[in-house]
Amino acid sequence: MLLLDLFAVTTSFLGLFFIKTVAAQIICPIDGTVVNNFACCPFVAVKSDLLANVFDGTCGANAAAVIRLAFSDAIGFSINTDKGGGADGSIITFPVELTFPQNVGLDCIVKIIDNVAGERGVSRGDAIHFAASIALSLCPGAPVVQTFVGRPEANRPAAPNTIPNPFDPANTIFARMQDAGFSPTELVALLAAHSIGSQHDVDPTIPGAPFDTTPGSFDSQFFLETLLRGTLFPGDGPHQGEATSPLPGEFRLQSDFTCARDPRTACTWQSFVSNQTLMAARFATAMAKLTLLGQDVLTLTDCTELIPRSPPAASQAVFPATKSRPDIDQACAISLFPSTLKTLVGPEPTVLPVPPQSVCI
Ligand code: HEM
Ligand SMILES: *[C@@H]1O[C@H](CO)[C@@H](O)[C@H](O)[C@H]1NC(C)=O
Repeated sequence: MLLLDLFAVTTSFLGLFFIKTVAAQIICPIDGTVVNNFACCPFVAVKSDLLANVFDGTCGANAAAVIRLAFSDAIGFSINTDKGGGADGSIITFPVELTFPQNVGLDCIVKIIDNVAGERGVSRGDAIHFAASIALSLCPGAPVVQTFVGRPEANRPAAPNTIPNPFDPANTIFARMQDAGFSPTELVALLAAHSIGSQHDVDPTIPGAPFDTTPGSFDSQFFLETLLRGTLFPGDGPHQGEATSPLPGEFRLQSDFTCARDPRTACTWQSFVSNQTLMAARFATAMAKLTLLGQDVLTLTDCTELIPRSPPAASQAVFPATKSRPDIDQACAISLFPSTLKTLVGPEPTVLPVPPQSVCI
């Protein structure tokens, strides 16, 4: 390994001399990537594995699965009682966690990320939370999330029932999130993750049924569409944890319905409809916090420099064809739903399922 100590001597405009020490630059042996810290080097290979072999370069099913996995792993944590080690990879290390009903469907992505961690010699916790940041970088509109590495291997599983259920009432969901250190409005910010994803097991007859018309894009469209009045069940519902959705093929979680309309969160929810920048910024802060639950950040290394910037999302949310403001459930009591949004032209869309990506044996 080559270590270049760079010292830049700069002269200020006042004519005083300063010696400015630029952080040591490390050239990683694998491919010459320059990083600020040796601890980031293994993640250069992790990153290329993920982009090429796991995500296939798209914000598709595997990217969504990893981001869900990051939440399921990290939320096994409490600031009040011992519920587990938080963002520590325990969801991979301790198979009992995959028997928790909230983790249904995560088996395959767990195997994939476990293999990446093993092959590249990084901890499972690092592999999950680094992978979530890389996954987001493939989703148009997603922010760069500050990304640390150096988590030790987990030494115990998370307790059961730390992950909210889609059928839980608002008070239960908010109390669980508060117990992990998140306010209801921070939860709303985190739920921006649902803008890219789909469901497989709440209604197993329609695997890949998206939560909005633009899965694969991290955008405020999700916050608009969850406020549209529900009229139908896209599959053979109703199912426990399912609410009526506004469009054929689109799936609405009961918990998203609830958070969009609860008086404690409705105005934050509505504020994200017309402000993608705000939504992405609030998500980035909350997500970075999530991936550090139970970790001592002083022992970790910031490798955010390895996270690519995502392409931009559509600049403004739009009403799906045939929908407009009268179809909105006005839930925020102190300000009206934005009046400036356009409606797409054409017949009512049918939302297509997200195709599966990996075959796990
Ligand atoms: C109140 C809190 C939450 C509840 C009740 C909840 C519930 C669910 C449920 C039931 C699904 C569908 C699973 C399936 O059937 O395939 C899902 C999907 C997903 N969740 Fe959440 N979730 C919550 C919060 C979060 C958070 C905080 C994140 C990330 C920061 C997240 C990320 C995702 C993603 C990306 C998907 C899509 C997965 C895919 O497309 O395969 N969720 N969530
Ligand atoms: C969006 O939110 C940002 C950050 O709070 C704010 O500075 C900006 O004015 C908002 N933009 C709109 C169009 O409301």
